[in-house]
Amino acid sequence: MSVGIDKMSFFSSDMYLDMVDLANARNEDPNKYLIGIGQKKQAVIPNTQDVVTMAANACEKIIDDDNRKKIDLIIFGTETGVDNSKSAAIYLQNMLGLSRRARAFEVKQACYGATAGLQMAKEYVTNHPDKQALVIGADIARYGIKTPGEVTQGGGAMAMVVSSNPSMLEFEGPSTFYSDDIMDFWRPLYRTEAVVDGHYSNDVYVKFFKNTWDEYKKITGLSIDDFKAMTFHLPYTKMGIKGLRAILNEADEDKQEHLKQEFEYGRKYNENVGNLYTGSLYLNVLSLLNNSTDLQTGDRIGLFSYGSGAQGEFFSMKLKDGFKNDQLADQIDTDLKNRKRVSVEEYERIFNNWIPIKDGDINLDYENDSADFFLKGVKNHQRIYGRK
Ligand code: COA
Repeated sequence: MSVGIDKMSFFSSDMYLDMVDLANARNEDPNKYLIGIGQKKQAVIPNTQDVVTMAANACEKIIDDDNRKKIDLIIFGTETGVDNSKSAAIYLQNMLGLSRRARAFEVKQACYGATAGLQMAKEYVTNHPDKQALVIGADIARYGIKTPGEVTQGGGAMAMVVSSNPSMLEFEGPSTFYSDDIMDFWRPLYRTEAVVDGHYSNDVYVKFFKNTWDEYKKITGLSIDDFKAMTFHLPYTKMGIKGLRAILNEADEDKQEHLKQEFEYGRKYNENVGNLYTGSLYLNVLSLLNNSTDLQTGDRIGLFSYGSGAQGEFFSMKLKDGFKNDQLADQIDTDLKNRKRVSVEEYERIFNNWIPIKDGDINLDYENDSADFFLKGVKNHQRIYGRK
């Protein structure tokens, strides 16, 4: 029996900021953002979307009645939680009409949360093959206006159903992981924007990747030639290139070109959406599956997950017959194409309209939000959600 990802879906905002517009407004050369950082567009998240609504909007594309019968584990990976106590998973369970005979909770370790959830789900489904788990990675990446991290913002949600005999991807073999107390990126409780030491974080990321990759090769006896593609946590897509470059010299020239080409397919969604924090690795995987032209059933892909602070993990998955869902891929392309381009001024207004961390009722202007699930406001310290 195999265990893995049976369904995957993605949701983000219907608005974006063009990185050339941002570069011009910040007096930077556009090629720094387009090539040096590797980002073309950035999702602009309105205050009527939070991690709960984005996850619900992602899930509703894939969750059917059979899933409702079988899902009894709901793990919500996020570092953009909406409450310091109650988990986003409980809100989501109710919104989607999932079974109440379920374990539902939230997991946090920066951009690693969804991987922790996925690995927990793998163990659970391995022991309970007739059950399924829903794993979410949802975040809104906020660094601040006119900060170096601004170009690496974004947001969205990835939803994954983990089952036995999955149609898309199966887990294969062990994971290797590594953690250490590192202050490269964090967000104190009183802030809605992250604090980051970006260049240091880049170095730690590559070190953790090399560390887990070397250990993985030692344990499994596999080499770079055994992998059709490598996927990465992508806070911005240049970061993945730095990771890939760290091991490319282990391959011959043909293999190097091939891995670089697969990386291009894999970063397509990420370079147009920006950072999803914990969902970013899985958006990279989905982009690879939907955009690569030469993947085949049985191919092995590598996944490197990184959450600042810091936790790294490397593991592999193998492609199953249904790894590509053409309908969902077309839908994602259409959604990305139909997004509204907002000006830098409009983006700054939306950014500054973020719900503050303070007491008080709020009524939001949700009529213009095109998503099915949205946030209507806050009343008596409670978030009020709506559905079209
Ligand atoms: N054309 C092409 N490339 C250019 C360029 C131009 N005109 N100008 C600069 N670049 C390149 C630089 O050479 C550099 O490339 P390198 O990384 O390969 O050396 C890249 O663009 C970025 O330039 P840099 O000067 O380092 O940018 P910065 O000081 O503004 O910082 C980040 C960039 C990524 C560190 C910053 O945006 C950040 O901190 N982001 C958050 C990262 C994060 O969240 N990390 C934690 C999670 S993993």
